[in-house]
Amino acid sequence: MTKKEKKMSINVIIGAQWGDEGKGKHGDIISEKADYMVRFQGGANAGHTLVIDGEKIIMHLLPVGIMRPSVVNLVGPYVLMDLEVLEEELAIAKKCGAKIILDSSAPVVLPIHKQIDRGREKLAGKSAIGTTQRGIGPTYEDFWSRRFVKLGDLVSKERFSKALLQSGYLQEKTAQVKFLRENPWSHKKLLEWGDKFYDLIKPFLGDTRAIVAKAIAEKKNILFEGAQGVMLDALHGAHPYCTSSFCTLAAVNASFGVYNFDRVIGIAKAYVTRVGAGPFPTKLDNSIGENIRTVGAEFGATTGRPRDCGWLDLVALKYACRMGGVTELQITKLDVMTGLKEIKVCVGYEDVDEYASLTLDVLENAKPVYNVFPVWEDDISKVSEYDKLPPEAKEYLAFLENFLGVRISAVGVGPDRKQILYC
Ligand code: IMP
Repeated sequence: MTKKEKKMSINVIIGAQWGDEGKGKHGDIISEKADYMVRFQGGANAGHTLVIDGEKIIMHLLPVGIMRPSVVNLVGPYVLMDLEVLEEELAIAKKCGAKIILDSSAPVVLPIHKQIDRGREKLAGKSAIGTTQRGIGPTYEDFWSRRFVKLGDLVSKERFSKALLQSGYLQEKTAQVKFLRENPWSHKKLLEWGDKFYDLIKPFLGDTRAIVAKAIAEKKNILFEGAQGVMLDALHGAHPYCTSSFCTLAAVNASFGVYNFDRVIGIAKAYVTRVGAGPFPTKLDNSIGENIRTVGAEFGATTGRPRDCGWLDLVALKYACRMGGVTELQITKLDVMTGLKEIKVCVGYEDVDEYASLTLDVLENAKPVYNVFPVWEDDISKVSEYDKLPPEAKEYLAFLENFLGVRISAVGVGPDRKQILYC
């Protein structure tokens, strides 16, 4: 099909677990048909990993569509802009010849936000959330309290200074940083910091809401790219062990006024991983968990922290599909399950209604009920068609599809772009 004949479609990718599901790789593959790729929530707490021809690339802020010169990449007004990360990623994008527009309204993560994040985590001691310390919570707080520096303010010293001093903003932040026993950045130091970015940012500023509206009017293909996952959503996650943004379509609706989607693609691993603190009912504290971590290279793409690993939790995944409005699933890293001495899947929590909200209380007390599945030994990483998977692997996938009532459209069997099977 040529580009002109392409049917318009508006699609969304979201994480259907606790983040780190493999959205990077699948987003990269799906973006092949996109005219626009739009990052719509979170900030540099995300780590989207791609492997292209053996080369590993990790993106935190810009859409993974920057790898394809045909895609226009947008970063929306609800994405927190980490300027150091932005600088690094704009350099990668330049090498790729990528087209990029950053929303002028997007909140900027200031060094003081990282100080507040770090200070709070330190003071919390054992009850720390285990944040990525990228200043996410404190910056969203300022966004919701309507006192924040916008990316569009980072165009000159005068404008940045004015934004910092608006209604005592910096004074208030300084008191907060001191309370958290960090050494606050002065107005002068912040302005010096800002100096590095004006020329970098200016050429990329734009109105992404207008661009999306025009793209829809022109019947373009648009792919919205989420970060984190439904189980870390500020509303649906197990508060306080969640992130501070909406990770579902709600953020697309709110940012762009788009309410109709062709596909809402939920990404989920064939097992579960979690990084940071908080309840994890199916966590494996044994050699199987370690094996999954080693084989699956389960270390945080943003922080390098080892991820906890566990059995696939279908109670959580069903909840995530429901809350996320997922219309199809793509299962990643099925190859990591090869050769395990046993495979289990959580199909319920004792005495918990299947429609219950997965609050902290429910997850902390959850007693998983498991189904046991036959294992397989054959290496599946080189399998090129779904039908050629071992029967045990197909049985596993068929069970998921049936239990969840959501179609599985693709399965990943390795990190490379080419290691994907369409069902
Ligand atoms: P924050 O988003 O840095 O405030 O971290 C809050 C929680 O979300 C912590 O448990 C983090 O480990 C987790 N988190 C944030 N972003 C990601 C992600 O992209 N993948 C996995 N976990 C994440």
